[in-house]
Amino acid sequence: MRKLIRGGTVVTAADEAQADVLIDGEEIAAVGALGDVDAEVIDADGCYVLPGLIDNHTHMAMPFGGTRSNDDYDTGTRAAAAGGTTCIVDFVIQQHPDGLRSSLEEWQERATGAAHVDYGFHMAITNADEGTFADMEPMVEEGLCTFKVFLAYKGVLMVTDDLFFRVLERTRDLGALTMVHCENGWAIDVLVERALAAGQTEPIHHAYTRPEALEAEATGRAVRFAELTNAGVYIVHVTCGLAADEIAAGQARGVDVSAETCLQYLTNTIEDLERPDFEGARYVCSPPLREQRNQGLLWAALDRGVLESVSTDHCPFTSEQKALGRDDFSKIPNGLAMIQHRLVKLWDLGVEGGRLSPSELVDMTSTAIAKRFGLHRKGTIAPGFDADLVVFDPATPFEFSTRTSHMNVDYDLFEGERSTGSVRHTFCRGTMVYDRGEILTQPGHGRFVPRSLTADAPVRA
Ligand code: URP
Ligand code: ZN
Ligand code: ZN
Repeated sequence: MRKLIRGGTVVTAADEAQADVLIDGEEIAAVGALGDVDAEVIDADGCYVLPGLIDNHTHMAMPFGGTRSNDDYDTGTRAAAAGGTTCIVDFVIQQHPDGLRSSLEEWQERATGAAHVDYGFHMAITNADEGTFADMEPMVEEGLCTFKVFLAYKGVLMVTDDLFFRVLERTRDLGALTMVHCENGWAIDVLVERALAAGQTEPIHHAYTRPEALEAEATGRAVRFAELTNAGVYIVHVTCGLAADEIAAGQARGVDVSAETCLQYLTNTIEDLERPDFEGARYVCSPPLREQRNQGLLWAALDRGVLESVSTDHCPFTSEQKALGRDDFSKIPNGLAMIQHRLVKLWDLGVEGGRLSPSELVDMTSTAIAKRFGLHRKGTIAPGFDADLVVFDPATPFEFSTRTSHMNVDYDLFEGERSTGSVRHTFCRGTMVYDRGEILTQPGHGRFVPRSLTADAPVRA
């Protein structure tokens, strides 16, 4: 049976208007004042109807520091849906010494039949020979048009500059895009070694040994490499004004550089790493949380379009996993539990805080991401697009708590706080996945979405 979301304020990146949304099967069939329609009616009176959020930066069951991030495709996409996210793009990490194909198969096996919302994959290249470069072409043909390199995590994920340079050239030739984690892994290792030798083992030293200058240096290097190779580059998880300045300078020179920040850099600061009883470890991620002044600089960069989107870099570890680094901060698995909270937090900070219109929020969490990452059927509310929709109630608060969290960790980073609004329903391809606290789908509703940066996209509203 068709569904009619009636009486909400429909928001796209372009505008907002009172309208009904008719869903037929998996697609949006009509948007407007639709009157009496033979359909199951979902009342959205007083609510906003938004395109499902897209999270282009997640790490489900990512191998890291001798363990794996604790959300798999089932739990992680439940949490995504509970937060209004209807599609994720997760990172396959090339496993040494295997090539890209076997790594992709490993991730496919984990995701197939497990996810509640749709998913795509980026391929993170950690090691490359001629075979790897050859392997990239079939990946693009199969819908993995984005490749990532890490300029940090020396000896684990980091690539050297020669390899980074060649990946840029190869993605350029394949009509693909290179994403980059920008920190200088060589210098960080010197600082880490020195800190540990001086007995500085607590979580805060994670941040002190990864200073802004080393993020900015690697960001500037990535932008210059893109300029030199005439390739597109996307800078992930920008944390500070210094790095944003490098991106802005590249954009001003005409370099094809785009970038995101992540929710945690807008909500949290370096001070969280000093929480007592080793709680600071929950806030250990790379690049690290920064001093508060950077939050204003990130908002300004979003406002100017230097940064185009906000993702989560969701990579959750339990307290027990974080305790691997109790005596040595460099052994704390890096990553935060964030996927569920992007919409409610950005609504409060952005819309309620007077920094964003609802349309701007939609653009930076859905529309711009769909365009950048080749999700041609997603990212807006218009006939013919996937019926990926969120009914957001701006007046019913959400209580942050392990009770309400669907993320597979034993804490919630915002425990005890309340947001102004909450997600009422989340639809993925026409099916209601989330209904006021409950997940309604079985694992496997979510499907792999092949992406392309060159295929013709449907006309957007
Ligand atoms: O700390 C983080 N960000 N963990 C996930 C891996 C990465 O660098 O994105
Ligand atoms: Zn990273
Ligand atoms: Zn990441």
